[in-house]
Amino acid sequence: MFTEIEFERMKKLPNYVFAEINELKLKARRNGEDVIDFSMGNPDGATPKHIIDKLVEAAQKPKNHGYSASKGIFKLREAISLWYKRRYNADIDPDFEAVATIGSKEGYVNLMKAIVSVGDTVIVPDPTYPIHSYAVVMAGGSAHKFELKFNEKFEVDEDDFFEKTKKALKEANPKPKYMVVNFPHNPSTATVTPKFYERLVELARQERFYVISDIAYADLTFDGYTTPSIMSVEGAKDVAVETFTLSKSYNMAGWRVGFVVGNRRIITSLQKIKSWLDYGMFTPIQIAATVALNGDQQCVEDIKATYKKRRDILIDTFDKAGWKMDIPNASMFIWARIPEQFRHLGSLEFSKQLLVEAKIAVSPGIGFGSYGDEYVRIALIENEKRIKQAAKNVKSFFKNLEKK
Ligand SMILES: Cc1ncc(COP(=O)(O)O)c(C=O)c1O
Repeated sequence: MFTEIEFERMKKLPNYVFAEINELKLKARRNGEDVIDFSMGNPDGATPKHIIDKLVEAAQKPKNHGYSASKGIFKLREAISLWYKRRYNADIDPDFEAVATIGSKEGYVNLMKAIVSVGDTVIVPDPTYPIHSYAVVMAGGSAHKFELKFNEKFEVDEDDFFEKTKKALKEANPKPKYMVVNFPHNPSTATVTPKFYERLVELARQERFYVISDIAYADLTFDGYTTPSIMSVEGAKDVAVETFTLSKSYNMAGWRVGFVVGNRRIITSLQKIKSWLDYGMFTPIQIAATVALNGDQQCVEDIKATYKKRRDILIDTFDKAGWKMDIPNASMFIWARIPEQFRHLGSLEFSKQLLVEAKIAVSPGIGFGSYGDEYVRIALIENEKRIKQAAKNVKSFFKNLEKK
């Protein structure tokens, strides 16, 4: 009905590639099949007890039941500021340089809505967490992409990165006003050094663009790697904001708690747009989030240890099954190159076959951008026993494929 009335913005949003895999997964499950699901970065563990206890306690108090503060209650913004001081020795003013968001995805999308004008260009390296580019599209801008290069240890080729950034600044029309970076990277798990951010801040100053950094996986690091933050660089707040989430570090994905800090002009714009859009998270959630950030961080260590163990088991058992993968030192994913003999299938077809034949769900790399098509992303959200079962399924799947 009324098809002459076009929903222009909807036309710019593609159907989610992951939806195809999801549909196959649901179909298989409906047929009673046991699908081992590595497809989504959705933590399977419980939120630590002291955080839940605080939520329950705060929820008992009637004064916490009304509309909350859209930019976050002061105590939470203060906890965010202390978190940055402790971790990154960065000074964040809780009033003007921090905003709590309803998950970092909401924060990021509304941030883009607040600052990107129709026709603007934003540099987003490819592959990418899809919303990093589609939030730009939804705001009326366009994403200028280049391939993110990294080595077998998933270390970003930083010289290549800056060369391509400079080229994009010269060639993209109009000249990009913003750049999105995300390290540890989803989907590739790639990481950067502190020096990377020093170079980025310097370049942003010279070339006059803002940086939006997403460190969602900052806590999930292994083998001695620690995640740097752009906020540690002197003068970063002149040119950058950074987003973080409690979803991964504290198994709180369903709670929807994130935050953005940094440049005052951008943060106050986000606070302003949010004041028109929402009344903030339920206050007891904000109180519990404050406890998560201020409290004992052993729970984060435990969550990290779980992912590390799963990473090691998966790499080992899949290797024995005939699928050799490089070892990531951050995030909750493995960015697995499709074995050479099956690479010609492309990541979507390979993922579909993996699901139908081996009962394993993964995310096809193409869903993250054209440079992702030789890979699939495996989220470490199944337990050790099921990882081992998955390796067995893979082994027989490969054998059958080779026979065909
Ligand atoms: C890089 C990255 N940023 C942000 C998010 C969204 O996190 P949140 O749950 O806070 O919306 C994700 C979720 O997977 C992610 O991978």
